[in-house]
Amino acid sequence: MRLDRYLSESGLFTRREAVKLIRSGRVTVDGVSVRDPASKVDENAARVTADGRTIGYAKFRWIMLNKPADTVSTTDGDPRSVLNLLPEEYRSVGLFPCGRLDADTTGLLLLTNDGETAHNLLSPRHHCEKVYRFSCLPITEEQRVKLEAGVDLSDFTSKPCRVTMADPEHGEIAVTEGKYHQIKRMFLAVGSEILELERISFGGIPLDPSLARGEWRLLTDEEIKTLEANGGQDARE
Ligand code: URA
Repeated sequence: MRLDRYLSESGLFTRREAVKLIRSGRVTVDGVSVRDPASKVDENAARVTADGRTIGYAKFRWIMLNKPADTVSTTDGDPRSVLNLLPEEYRSVGLFPCGRLDADTTGLLLLTNDGETAHNLLSPRHHCEKVYRFSCLPITEEQRVKLEAGVDLSDFTSKPCRVTMADPEHGEIAVTEGKYHQIKRMFLAVGSEILELERISFGGIPLDPSLARGEWRLLTDEEIKTLEANGGQDARE
């Protein structure tokens, strides 16, 4: 592929910036300075640097964010948008949240610019599992069993899910759906109420415990493969 495309698809530069960088002699391929933006590189084998920094090739970006409360999962310019927690270079590559969390919900939020895989992961067809830790108004064993069996929420009935309680006010719930305010509505429907909600896993990927609220990191290749196995890959076939 062309060197300028390689650099712009890394997500770190626009195409114009990439061309400028290359022409000014600040880019090397396999240790040799290259000044022609149209020169070809093998994206799977070449070692490309810009200003001495290695630039890995990635057509798509996947980011794990530990979402703080009082932020919103939108890209519409709201000052509370989770996008504002990312550095400038990641705000210009078309990232969007893969599914939404309520403003007061914290924890694992994935952001990507891979629309196809995100769409497939969020499709109800793929039963992608999301796990949340919660605190709630105390619930009985009978209420827990009702939540697990599926609750009538008037516009739909929630699918069977797993609810494990550490004590009557704290537990974890694993659901394969992602409807608006779903977990809060499920608890209200059985006569309880969610007080705190934190997502701790999405599509088999656990929230990295080393990320403080508001911190983020890129997903590893291994994690991206897990996501694809849990949604993206199947739906492409
Ligand atoms: N269910 C909810 O009620 N809120 C969330 O943010 C996620 C799931």
